[in-house]
Amino acid sequence: MAGHSTYVPQNKAARWLEKRLPVISLVRGSFVDFPTPKNLNYWWTFGGIAFFVLVAQIVTGIVLAMHYTGHVDMAFNSVEHIMRDVNYGWLMRYLHANGASMFFIAVYIHIFRGLYYGSYKDPREISWILGVIIFLLMMATAFMGYVLPWGQMSFWGATVITNLFSAIPLVGETITHWLWGGFAVGNPTLNRFFSLHYLLPFMIVGVVLLHVWAFHTSGNNNPTGVDPKSDKDTLPFHPYYTMKDLYAIVVFMLLFAWFAFYAPNYMGHPDNYTEANPLVTPAHIVPEWYFLPFYAILRAIPDKLGGVVAMFGAIAVLFILPWLDTSRVRSATYRPIYKQFFWIFAVVCVVLGWLGSKPPEGGYVLASRICTAYYFIHFLVILPLLGFFEKPKPLPASINEAVLEKNGSGQPSGAVAAPETKS
Ligand code: HEM
Repeated sequence: MAGHSTYVPQNKAARWLEKRLPVISLVRGSFVDFPTPKNLNYWWTFGGIAFFVLVAQIVTGIVLAMHYTGHVDMAFNSVEHIMRDVNYGWLMRYLHANGASMFFIAVYIHIFRGLYYGSYKDPREISWILGVIIFLLMMATAFMGYVLPWGQMSFWGATVITNLFSAIPLVGETITHWLWGGFAVGNPTLNRFFSLHYLLPFMIVGVVLLHVWAFHTSGNNNPTGVDPKSDKDTLPFHPYYTMKDLYAIVVFMLLFAWFAFYAPNYMGHPDNYTEANPLVTPAHIVPEWYFLPFYAILRAIPDKLGGVVAMFGAIAVLFILPWLDTSRVRSATYRPIYKQFFWIFAVVCVVLGWLGSKPPEGGYVLASRICTAYYFIHFLVILPLLGFFEKPKPLPASINEAVLEKNGSGQPSGAVAAPETKS
């Protein structure tokens, strides 16, 4: 992460520390002097936004854990106790529950930014792969967190998803019982989910640090996809991007606060306000919105094992994406055909999400099958072929040139033209 710092310790204490543990130069090299492409747009603020939400989730989660009880007879009531009796408990819970959704919004935008601008391509494959690992860890964390309030949807969601493992040939049932710690979702299951739900966010933090290290080694991608060639193409991270990220975080917090204060249950499910009852199955078992596209893929395949394979395959394919896309050009800005396929793909993902919320019957199933097929065709057929058939637009000679061209004024972007005076 370091290596770019021009930091020279100014006093004796700083020199002493620098010799023994160069943390100051590490932080300065990574987040102060770090040369960052000067043309990053607001889509590049979502990594920072995601990091902010991750920290918020950990802080609110730790406070919630102080009052929560991980036992099937008490979990539901302990959450009600948090809502009613604990000072600002309602706030902690609503921030945490809506924070999970905010985290997925930020990360989905971050992923699609990467897909659009080809940020997964050489030399950022490792940043991308670590990102996919983070995404998997996030999904596991969110799934287990949703089980903790021990409402109807918690219990039945956990039952449906853990049961998927029973589709594995020969050892499936044994694995499922091992996961449950018994013969059904019960107290041992709740307890281990609580334990893991507390652990995984810290693992996410660890992988995020590697993620940041990786793209600080390769340097950031940018909207042109052209590598910086001189000092004219970059700006120091501070104050330019610290301020831009901070501004974006504040704007994002408005959305977050709007949900937490005005519509705190909008993204939740009413069934989860009824305590878990293993004897009563809800009419429709639906996961949280951020799982819906994968849920649609799972149910699109008539065979249980096939559905599980397709669902995990939908994420697994992301791991090999850097090698499936054969184009030399990174950014969709210069890839006219890819750009169209990107938008079709984005729409297909949204439609899959919508289908995941519908009952698995009639036209919904057919539509899910078509969209699932398209999802895989996009990665396994379109992207590999497009690199050979698409004629990219000419790339700018440098980031600086692209910025000047876009600005059209012959002045660097951000420079204010003299105001026109009325005569
Ligand atoms: C906890 C979740 C995550 C955090 C906190 C995070 C953080 C960041 C930050 C701060 C950046 C630099 C700024 C930016 O490009 O927005 C970044 C870049 C990047 N992220 Fe993430 N990220 C997360 C998840 C993911 C996921 C799930 C993926 C992909 C599956 C991903 C792929 C990438 C890639 C390829 C880059 C390099 C882009 C570039 O160089 O411009 N990240 N990430």
